[in-house]
Amino acid sequence: MYSFRWLLGVLHLLLWGSTLQNIRAIPPRDPVQCNGTVCTLYNSYGAWGDRKDCIFKTVAYPKTEEELRLVVAYANKNKLKAKVVSKFSHTIPKLACPSSRPDDSLLISTAKYDSNIEIDSANFIVTADAGVALRELIDKVEEAGLSLVAAPYWEGVSVAGLISTGAHGSSWWGKGGAVHDHVIGLSLIVPASESEGYAKVIQIGAQDQLLNAAKVSLGIVGVISKVKFSLEPGFKRSITYNYTGDSLIESEFIEHGKKYEFGDITWYPSEHRAVYRYDSRVSMDASGDGINDFLGFQANEILASESVRAAEKASESAKNVNGKCTLAAITLGYKKLIANGLKNNGLIFTGYPVVGRQGKMQTSGSCLYSPITRIDSSCAWDPRYKGLFFYESTAIFSVSKFGDFIRDVKRLRDLKPENFCGVDLYNGFLIRYIKASKAYLGQSEDSIVVDFNYYRADDASTPRLNQDVTEEVEQMAFLKYGARPHWAKNRNLAFLNVQSKYPNYNKFLAAKKQLDPQNMFSSEWSDQILFGKGAVKSDGCALEGLCICSEDRHCSPSKGYFCKPGLVYTEARVCRYPPSSTLI
Ligand SMILES: Cc1cc2nc3c(=O)[nH]c(=O)nc-3n(C[C@H](O)[C@H](O)[C@H](O)COP(=O)(O)OP(=O)(O)OC[C@H]3O[C@@H](n4cnc5c(N)ncnc54)[C@H](O)[C@@H]3O)c2cc1C
Ligand SMILES: *[C@@H]1O[C@H](CO)[C@@H](O)[C@H](O)[C@H]1NC(C)=O
Ligand SMILES: *[C@@H]1O[C@H](CO)[C@@H](O)[C@H](O)[C@H]1NC(C)=O
Repeated sequence: MYSFRWLLGVLHLLLWGSTLQNIRAIPPRDPVQCNGTVCTLYNSYGAWGDRKDCIFKTVAYPKTEEELRLVVAYANKNKLKAKVVSKFSHTIPKLACPSSRPDDSLLISTAKYDSNIEIDSANFIVTADAGVALRELIDKVEEAGLSLVAAPYWEGVSVAGLISTGAHGSSWWGKGGAVHDHVIGLSLIVPASESEGYAKVIQIGAQDQLLNAAKVSLGIVGVISKVKFSLEPGFKRSITYNYTGDSLIESEFIEHGKKYEFGDITWYPSEHRAVYRYDSRVSMDASGDGINDFLGFQANEILASESVRAAEKASESAKNVNGKCTLAAITLGYKKLIANGLKNNGLIFTGYPVVGRQGKMQTSGSCLYSPITRIDSSCAWDPRYKGLFFYESTAIFSVSKFGDFIRDVKRLRDLKPENFCGVDLYNGFLIRYIKASKAYLGQSEDSIVVDFNYYRADDASTPRLNQDVTEEVEQMAFLKYGARPHWAKNRNLAFLNVQSKYPNYNKFLAAKKQLDPQNMFSSEWSDQILFGKGAVKSDGCALEGLCICSEDRHCSPSKGYFCKPGLVYTEARVCRYPPSSTLI
């Protein structure tokens, strides 16, 4: 009965969610909601790390650079705390929240400063307003016969927002997979003296040291007004996914990154499966008009994502991982069948390789748009519906440490592979490549990035099935192997001690002090991230990743979850439900 319900949910998702073309995609809601008294800023998942709302009184929607400058001047003159957010607000940590004191803070939205895109074809340069959507930038660039080489896999981001958190795709070639390493100039609005009108626009060029601080700045050095990217002549990409065993990941990942310009690897530990993405640049003459419409970013019928969530919850409350394993296996089979959303002719997958223009292959997000429609659908995580709700941990490793990390995770997996079904149900471990960067808060060496997503309960006090396992992996990454957290993702504990992980951290702070001497663009929330401050440990704090447990009360003793050592990384301290400890 139980697994039957699961299967129904899956069939519902697979048959209805993806074969009907006439789906009404409901675009994401505006992340800023005002009700006449106060305004609230949400991220795309509708919940910050601490689940506490970000409340403030005033939001400004400048439309031009001069209006943007005037808003910064107003904030400076009136000694307000200010933050910028894009129309997407897709960053998971609370970086864009202006202050915990609503009265003396101001939010600046770039939602309406989003139209100018200027292409200088002769010099392979594009300059865009801060709020321009990545998809619009890419489409303009491609129309001009050019390509932007790097992009995050998700296209629902603004140009200023994405560089500010170090967003990346995957590449060790050329300038590399981090988008900010393709930035060759910025216009930045910073506070100024009264005689200068309280705010001024400064131009930061390619050779300017300040660019290293301003391109990955978490929004705390000033307001980016325009971003200038370098481009290359237009090209196509040829992608093949190789579904194979996972036994060689630790010995092959370096070679894979060297061999394929845009390669990545998705690892499903419970399935003992690795999917190697062979992804190379080919010329415009290569035949093929494919698109990459990544399955996870396609619109889901709302009822389908709600039934998957309901099934996940049933599995959680029954503490029965088998339902998740079944669903993970079926989902993986389906992903393989449809090449994870690659479409040779723009409509369906007919076989490898899938060749298409860079602009159609580098990033996706079809759940953002509204085709003509019949059935309600949305991005699977849309907080207005009871669909998917999950954590996203993203760790950035030195190449020399990554193999050992994989070996450790395999040891943990081998104790009981089913413990990883919950992670595999999302997207397993996505392994990508980033090249060394000069950005102070970027990666100072060639690196490997790993993302993994996992169930988050509706309620902060509800422990999760196998949470000890994901916590152990998280602590292995960030503590044992010293991985650096992606600035736009992660639970708060990942940022502990982050200062010591960036060799140019002090140069960043010095530039911040120079550009924003009054700390107008800092808040307690961004300080929490930037200075890796652990929260004061309170009851249940480890459940949400706000702390690492050191006492049982940081877990949930009343629900049977106690603070225990890791199974492989014994220095880890994780919240475990007793039965899993019979493993040791
Ligand atoms: C579904 C999903 C998929 C994702 N996939 C990837 C991926 O593949 N790779 C990856 O690296 N990341 C990925 N991300 C993370 C995403 O790229 C980052 O969170 C990105 O920063 C979001 O851009 P945004 O425009 O929404 O920025 P916001 O969330 O609005 O802002 C991000 C930061 O930039 C600051 N900021 C925004 N605009 C300005 C400005 N004009 N001037 C100064 N500061 C500014 C804000 O204050 C904030 O600190 C994903 C996120 C989601 C939700
Ligand atoms: C507006 O929202 C705030 C915060 O959610 C809430 O406390 C307040 O009661 C709301 N006011 C109105 C008039 O709805
Ligand atoms: C897929 O990977 C396996 C293992 O590395 C290899 O033996 C096989 O040739 C690859 N298949 C293709 C189509 O490249």
